[in-house]
Amino acid sequence: MTQTGPVVSGHVPVLAEEVLHWLRVREDGVYVDGTVGAGGHAALIAQRAPRGKLVALDRDPEAVLVARRRLQIFPHVTVLHANYGNLEEILREQGITQVDGVLIDAGVSSMQLDDPRRGFSFQSEGPLDMRMDTDQELSARTYLEHVSLEELTQILRTYGDVRPAHRIARTILDWREQGNLQTTSDLAAAVQQALGVKKKQPEEVRVVFQAIRIAVNEEYRCLESGLHQAIHLLAAGGRIVAISFHSGEDRIVKNVLKQYAVPRRFYYPDGRLQEEVPPLLKILTPHPVRPSQEEQRRNPRAKSARLRAAEKLPEEEGP
Ligand SMILES: C[S@@+](CC[C@H](N)C(=O)[O-])C[C@H]1O[C@@H](n2cnc3c(N)ncnc32)[C@H](O)[C@@H]1O
Repeated sequence: MTQTGPVVSGHVPVLAEEVLHWLRVREDGVYVDGTVGAGGHAALIAQRAPRGKLVALDRDPEAVLVARRRLQIFPHVTVLHANYGNLEEILREQGITQVDGVLIDAGVSSMQLDDPRRGFSFQSEGPLDMRMDTDQELSARTYLEHVSLEELTQILRTYGDVRPAHRIARTILDWREQGNLQTTSDLAAAVQQALGVKKKQPEEVRVVFQAIRIAVNEEYRCLESGLHQAIHLLAAGGRIVAISFHSGEDRIVKNVLKQYAVPRRFYYPDGRLQEEVPPLLKILTPHPVRPSQEEQRRNPRAKSARLRAAEKLPEEEGP
Protein backbone atom coordinates (compact mmCIF):
# COMPACT_ATOMS: atom_id res chain seq x y z
CA MET A 1 0.00 0.00 0.00
CA THR A 2 1.37 3.46 -0.84
CA GLN A 3 1.98 5.80 2.05
CA THR A 4 0.69 9.33 1.83
CA GLY A 5 0.76 12.34 4.15
CA PRO A 6 3.44 13.42 6.60
CA VAL A 7 6.52 11.25 6.97
CA VAL A 8 6.55 9.34 10.27
CA SER A 9 9.70 9.50 12.36
CA GLY A 10 10.68 8.43 15.88
CA HIS A 11 11.15 5.02 17.52
CA VAL A 12 9.91 1.94 15.69
CA PRO A 13 7.14 0.29 17.71
CA VAL A 14 7.06 -3.45 18.33
CA LEU A 15 5.80 -5.62 15.43
CA ALA A 16 5.17 -2.47 13.37
CA GLU A 17 4.92 -4.16 9.96
CA GLU A 18 2.83 -6.98 11.36
CA VAL A 19 0.35 -4.56 13.00
CA LEU A 20 -0.18 -2.77 9.69
CA HIS A 21 -0.52 -6.06 7.84
CA TRP A 22 -3.08 -7.62 10.19
CA LEU A 23 -5.04 -4.43 10.76
CA ARG A 24 -5.26 -4.00 6.94
CA VAL A 25 -5.61 -0.24 7.33
CA ARG A 26 -7.89 1.37 4.71
CA GLU A 27 -7.35 4.93 3.51
CA ASP A 28 -10.74 6.06 4.74
CA GLY A 29 -11.20 3.66 7.65
CA VAL A 30 -12.05 4.46 11.27
CA TYR A 31 -9.53 3.05 13.75
CA VAL A 32 -8.88 2.90 17.47
CA ASP A 33 -5.47 2.62 19.09
CA GLY A 34 -6.39 1.65 22.64
CA THR A 35 -2.82 2.02 23.94
CA VAL A 36 -1.20 4.94 22.12
CA GLY A 37 1.91 5.20 24.36
CA ALA A 38 4.54 7.21 22.48
CA GLY A 39 2.35 7.11 19.36
CA GLY A 40 4.53 4.78 17.25
CA HIS A 41 1.78 2.49 15.95
CA ALA A 42 -0.70 5.37 15.88
CA ALA A 43 1.54 7.42 13.57
CA LEU A 44 1.81 4.49 11.14
CA ILE A 45 -1.95 3.89 11.17
CA ALA A 46 -2.71 7.60 10.78
CA GLN A 47 -0.38 7.79 7.80
CA ARG A 48 -2.13 4.89 6.08
CA ALA A 49 -5.61 6.28 6.72
CA PRO A 50 -5.27 9.91 5.60
CA ARG A 51 -8.97 10.17 4.71
CA GLY A 52 -10.12 8.21 7.74
CA LYS A 53 -10.08 8.76 11.46
CA LEU A 54 -8.02 7.48 14.38
CA VAL A 55 -9.07 7.72 18.00
CA ALA A 56 -6.02 7.02 20.18
CA LEU A 57 -6.27 6.43 23.92
CA ASP A 58 -3.95 6.04 26.85
CA ARG A 59 -4.74 5.87 30.54
CA ASP A 60 -1.37 7.53 31.29
CA PRO A 61 -1.63 11.35 31.12
CA GLU A 62 2.13 11.64 30.40
CA ALA A 63 1.82 9.31 27.41
CA VAL A 64 -1.13 11.37 26.18
CA LEU A 65 1.03 14.52 26.16
CA VAL A 66 3.85 12.77 24.29
CA ALA A 67 1.44 11.21 21.77
CA ARG A 68 -0.42 14.49 21.19
CA ARG A 69 2.85 16.21 20.40
CA ARG A 70 3.94 13.46 18.05
CA LEU A 71 0.58 13.10 16.31
CA GLN A 72 -0.33 16.78 16.00
CA ILE A 73 0.70 16.68 12.32
CA PHE A 74 -2.33 14.44 11.67
CA PRO A 75 -5.58 16.42 11.77
CA HIS A 76 -7.64 13.20 11.61
CA VAL A 77 -6.21 11.87 14.91
CA THR A 78 -7.81 12.48 18.32
CA VAL A 79 -5.75 11.56 21.37
CA LEU A 80 -7.71 11.07 24.59
CA HIS A 81 -6.80 10.37 28.19
CA ALA A 82 -8.96 7.30 28.69
CA ASN A 83 -9.01 3.63 29.59
CA TYR A 84 -9.86 1.20 26.78
CA GLY A 85 -11.85 -0.71 29.38
CA ASN A 86 -14.51 1.98 28.72
CA LEU A 87 -14.20 1.83 24.95
CA GLU A 88 -17.89 1.84 24.04
CA GLU A 89 -18.65 4.88 26.15
CA ILE A 90 -15.57 6.79 24.94
CA LEU A 91 -16.40 6.20 21.28
CA ARG A 92 -20.08 7.04 21.83
CA GLU A 93 -18.95 10.39 23.24
CA GLN A 94 -17.00 10.88 19.98
CA GLY A 95 -20.12 10.04 17.96
CA ILE A 96 -18.65 6.70 16.81
CA THR A 97 -20.66 3.47 16.95
CA GLN A 98 -18.64 1.29 14.54
CA VAL A 99 -14.96 1.01 13.66
CA ASP A 100 -12.84 -0.77 11.05
CA GLY A 101 -10.03 -1.76 13.35
CA VAL A 102 -8.84 -1.77 16.95
CA LEU A 103 -5.27 -2.16 18.15
CA ILE A 104 -4.41 -3.04 21.74
CA ASP A 105 -0.70 -3.16 22.54
CA ALA A 106 -1.06 -4.18 26.17
CA GLY A 107 1.12 -3.69 29.20
CA VAL A 108 3.66 -1.04 30.16
CA SER A 109 5.62 1.20 27.81
CA SER A 110 9.37 1.79 27.72
CA MET A 111 8.63 5.39 28.76
CA GLN A 112 6.99 4.08 31.94
CA LEU A 113 9.62 1.41 32.65
CA ASP A 114 12.56 3.73 32.06
CA ASP A 115 11.34 6.51 34.37
CA PRO A 116 12.34 5.62 37.97
CA ARG A 117 9.75 8.12 39.32
CA ARG A 118 6.98 5.84 38.03
CA GLY A 119 8.13 2.93 40.20
CA PHE A 120 7.67 0.21 37.54
CA SER A 121 11.28 -0.90 37.37
CA PHE A 122 13.00 -3.23 39.80
CA GLN A 123 16.34 -2.12 38.36
CA SER A 124 16.28 1.47 39.59
CA GLU A 125 15.26 2.99 42.88
CA GLY A 126 11.94 4.81 42.88
CA PRO A 127 8.72 5.24 44.83
CA LEU A 128 6.38 2.25 45.07
CA ASP A 129 3.96 3.73 42.57
CA MET A 130 3.29 1.60 39.42
CA ARG A 131 0.15 3.52 38.46
CA MET A 132 -0.33 3.77 34.71
CA ASP A 133 -2.95 6.44 35.29
CA THR A 134 -1.34 8.90 37.69
CA ASP A 135 -4.81 10.31 38.47
CA GLN A 136 -5.72 6.96 40.02
CA GLU A 137 -5.72 6.83 43.83
CA LEU A 138 -4.46 3.30 44.35
CA SER A 139 -0.67 2.97 44.00
CA ALA A 140 1.58 -0.02 44.68
CA ARG A 141 2.33 1.56 48.05
CA THR A 142 -1.30 1.88 49.12
CA TYR A 143 -2.05 -1.54 47.67
CA LEU A 144 0.77 -3.16 49.68
CA GLU A 145 -0.23 -1.23 52.80
CA HIS A 146 -3.64 -2.91 52.88
CA VAL A 147 -3.29 -6.24 51.10
CA SER A 148 -3.73 -9.45 53.14
CA LEU A 149 -1.28 -12.35 53.06
CA GLU A 150 -3.83 -14.55 51.31
CA GLU A 151 -4.58 -12.00 48.60
CA LEU A 152 -0.92 -11.18 47.93
CA THR A 153 -0.05 -14.88 47.71
CA GLN A 154 -2.90 -15.38 45.26
CA ILE A 155 -1.89 -12.33 43.18
CA LEU A 156 1.72 -13.50 42.93
CA ARG A 157 0.57 -16.95 41.83
CA THR A 158 -2.02 -15.85 39.32
CA TYR A 159 -0.40 -12.78 37.79
CA GLY A 160 3.25 -13.80 37.98
CA ASP A 161 3.29 -17.57 38.35
CA VAL A 162 5.65 -16.72 41.23
CA ARG A 163 7.08 -19.56 43.27
CA PRO A 164 7.29 -19.81 46.25
CA ALA A 165 4.42 -17.30 46.33
CA HIS A 166 3.49 -17.74 49.99
CA ARG A 167 7.03 -17.32 51.30
CA ILE A 168 7.67 -14.23 49.18
CA ALA A 169 4.32 -12.68 50.16
CA ARG A 170 5.05 -13.39 53.85
CA THR A 171 8.47 -11.68 53.64
CA ILE A 172 7.07 -8.65 51.78
CA LEU A 173 4.45 -8.22 54.52
CA ASP A 174 7.12 -8.66 57.24
CA TRP A 175 9.02 -5.78 55.67
CA ARG A 176 5.80 -3.78 55.63
CA GLU A 177 5.14 -4.47 59.35
CA GLN A 178 8.68 -3.28 60.15
CA GLY A 179 8.15 -0.09 58.15
CA ASN A 180 10.86 -1.09 55.68
CA LEU A 181 8.79 -1.18 52.50
CA GLN A 182 9.20 2.31 51.07
CA THR A 183 10.80 2.02 47.63
CA THR A 184 11.14 -0.29 44.64
CA SER A 185 14.58 -1.27 45.93
CA ASP A 186 13.00 -2.32 49.25
CA LEU A 187 10.48 -4.51 47.43
CA ALA A 188 13.24 -6.12 45.34
CA ALA A 189 15.36 -6.67 48.47
CA ALA A 190 12.43 -8.28 50.30
CA VAL A 191 11.97 -10.78 47.45
CA GLN A 192 15.69 -11.54 47.44
CA GLN A 193 15.62 -12.12 51.18
CA ALA A 194 12.64 -14.48 50.85
CA LEU A 195 14.62 -16.52 48.33
CA GLY A 196 17.84 -16.35 50.33
CA VAL A 197 19.63 -14.88 47.29
CA LYS A 198 22.28 -12.26 47.92
CA LYS A 199 23.86 -11.33 44.60
CA LYS A 200 22.34 -11.16 41.12
CA GLN A 201 18.65 -10.20 40.90
CA PRO A 202 16.61 -13.36 40.46
CA GLU A 203 13.84 -13.71 37.84
CA GLU A 204 11.32 -13.81 40.71
CA VAL A 205 11.91 -10.09 41.36
CA ARG A 206 10.76 -9.25 37.84
CA VAL A 207 7.63 -11.37 38.07
CA VAL A 208 6.72 -10.06 41.54
CA PHE A 209 6.86 -6.51 40.13
CA GLN A 210 4.78 -7.63 37.16
CA ALA A 211 2.15 -9.26 39.39
CA ILE A 212 1.78 -6.24 41.68
CA ARG A 213 1.61 -3.89 38.69
CA ILE A 214 -1.17 -5.98 37.10
CA ALA A 215 -3.13 -5.90 40.38
CA VAL A 216 -2.68 -2.15 40.96
CA ASN A 217 -3.84 -1.31 37.43
CA GLU A 218 -6.48 -4.06 37.19
CA GLU A 219 -4.90 -4.87 33.86
CA TYR A 220 -6.62 -8.20 33.22
CA ARG A 221 -10.10 -6.86 33.90
CA CYS A 222 -9.49 -3.93 31.51
CA LEU A 223 -8.01 -6.18 28.83
CA GLU A 224 -10.86 -8.66 28.89
CA SER A 225 -13.56 -6.04 28.96
CA GLY A 226 -11.83 -3.89 26.31
CA LEU A 227 -11.56 -6.88 23.96
CA HIS A 228 -15.27 -7.71 24.30
CA GLN A 229 -16.24 -4.11 23.61
CA ALA A 230 -13.84 -3.82 20.67
CA ILE A 231 -15.28 -6.96 19.05
CA HIS A 232 -18.82 -5.60 19.33
CA LEU A 233 -17.76 -2.25 17.88
CA LEU A 234 -16.14 -3.73 14.77
CA ALA A 235 -17.95 -3.37 11.45
CA ALA A 236 -18.17 -6.51 9.28
CA GLY A 237 -14.69 -7.06 7.84
CA GLY A 238 -13.18 -4.94 10.64
CA ARG A 239 -10.19 -6.34 12.49
CA ILE A 240 -8.90 -6.56 16.01
CA VAL A 241 -5.17 -6.84 16.65
CA ALA A 242 -3.83 -7.43 20.15
CA ILE A 243 -0.22 -7.62 21.29
CA SER A 244 0.60 -9.16 24.66
CA PHE A 245 3.85 -9.48 26.55
CA HIS A 246 3.38 -12.46 28.83
CA SER A 247 1.44 -15.68 28.99
CA GLY A 248 -1.33 -14.36 31.27
CA GLU A 249 -2.21 -11.57 28.84
CA ASP A 250 -1.91 -13.82 25.82
CA ARG A 251 -4.24 -16.37 27.40
CA ILE A 252 -6.93 -13.69 27.84
CA VAL A 253 -6.56 -12.52 24.22
CA LYS A 254 -6.63 -16.08 22.89
CA ASN A 255 -9.66 -17.11 24.96
CA VAL A 256 -11.76 -14.01 24.24
CA LEU A 257 -11.13 -14.24 20.49
CA LYS A 258 -11.84 -17.98 20.52
CA GLN A 259 -15.10 -17.45 22.35
CA TYR A 260 -16.45 -15.40 19.41
CA ALA A 261 -15.02 -17.67 16.73
CA VAL A 262 -17.44 -20.53 17.48
CA PRO A 263 -21.24 -20.60 17.54
CA ARG A 264 -22.38 -19.32 20.93
CA ARG A 265 -25.20 -21.07 22.76
CA PHE A 266 -27.56 -19.41 25.23
CA TYR A 267 -29.68 -21.55 27.58
CA TYR A 268 -32.87 -21.09 29.57
CA PRO A 269 -32.47 -21.47 33.37
CA ASP A 270 -33.91 -25.01 33.08
CA GLY A 271 -31.10 -26.03 30.73
CA ARG A 272 -33.03 -25.96 27.43
CA LEU A 273 -31.27 -24.34 24.48
CA GLN A 274 -32.69 -20.85 23.94
CA GLU A 275 -30.63 -19.63 21.02
CA GLU A 276 -27.54 -20.44 19.01
CA VAL A 277 -25.72 -17.39 17.68
CA PRO A 278 -23.34 -17.78 14.71
CA PRO A 279 -19.66 -16.89 15.20
CA LEU A 280 -18.82 -13.19 15.18
CA LEU A 281 -15.12 -13.61 14.40
CA LYS A 282 -12.73 -15.43 12.14
CA ILE A 283 -9.33 -15.99 13.80
CA LEU A 284 -6.61 -14.83 11.41
CA THR A 285 -3.62 -16.02 13.43
CA PRO A 286 -4.07 -19.64 14.66
CA HIS A 287 -0.67 -19.24 16.34
CA PRO A 288 0.59 -15.99 17.83
CA VAL A 289 2.85 -13.93 15.57
CA ARG A 290 6.30 -13.31 17.08
CA PRO A 291 8.87 -10.61 16.26
CA SER A 292 11.52 -11.62 13.72
CA GLN A 293 15.01 -12.55 14.92
CA GLU A 294 16.16 -9.22 13.51
CA GLU A 295 13.60 -7.26 15.55
CA GLN A 296 14.45 -9.22 18.70
CA ARG A 297 18.11 -8.41 18.17
CA ARG A 298 17.38 -4.71 17.67
CA ASN A 299 14.92 -4.51 20.55
CA PRO A 300 15.35 -7.10 23.32
CA ARG A 301 12.08 -5.94 24.95
CA ALA A 302 10.19 -7.12 21.86
CA LYS A 303 11.26 -10.71 22.56
CA SER A 304 8.19 -11.68 24.52
CA ALA A 305 5.66 -9.91 22.24
CA ARG A 306 2.88 -12.04 20.72
CA LEU A 307 0.33 -10.71 18.28
CA ARG A 308 -3.11 -12.18 17.63
CA ALA A 309 -5.62 -10.92 15.08
CA ALA A 310 -9.22 -11.66 14.14
CA GLU A 311 -11.79 -10.35 11.64
CA LYS A 312 -15.45 -9.60 12.24
CA LEU A 313 -17.74 -11.75 10.11
CA PRO A 314 -20.74 -10.36 8.27
CA GLU A 315 -23.81 -11.31 10.31
CA GLU A 316 -25.47 -13.46 7.65
CA GLU A 317 -22.30 -15.57 7.22
CA GLY A 318 -22.91 -17.73 10.27
CA PRO A 319 -23.62 -21.48 9.85
C1 LIG B 1 3.25 -1.12 25.19
S1 LIG B 1 2.73 0.52 25.42
C2 LIG B 1 2.08 1.02 23.89
C3 LIG B 1 3.12 1.54 22.93
C4 LIG B 1 2.51 2.11 21.66
N1 LIG B 1 1.83 1.11 20.89
C5 LIG B 1 3.55 2.83 20.82
O1 LIG B 1 3.58 2.59 19.61
O2 LIG B 1 4.29 3.64 21.37
C6 LIG B 1 1.31 0.31 26.37
C7 LIG B 1 0.57 1.58 26.71
O3 LIG B 1 -0.76 1.21 27.01
C8 LIG B 1 -1.22 1.99 28.07
N2 LIG B 1 -2.32 1.24 28.68
C9 LIG B 1 -2.24 0.07 29.35
N3 LIG B 1 -3.46 -0.33 29.74
C10 LIG B 1 -4.34 0.59 29.26
C11 LIG B 1 -5.75 0.74 29.33
N4 LIG B 1 -6.51 -0.17 29.96
N5 LIG B 1 -6.32 1.79 28.70
C12 LIG B 1 -5.56 2.71 28.05
N6 LIG B 1 -4.22 2.64 27.98
C13 LIG B 1 -3.61 1.60 28.58
C14 LIG B 1 -0.03 2.20 28.95
O4 LIG B 1 -0.19 3.35 29.75
C15 LIG B 1 1.09 2.34 27.92
O5 LIG B 1 1.31 3.69 27.59
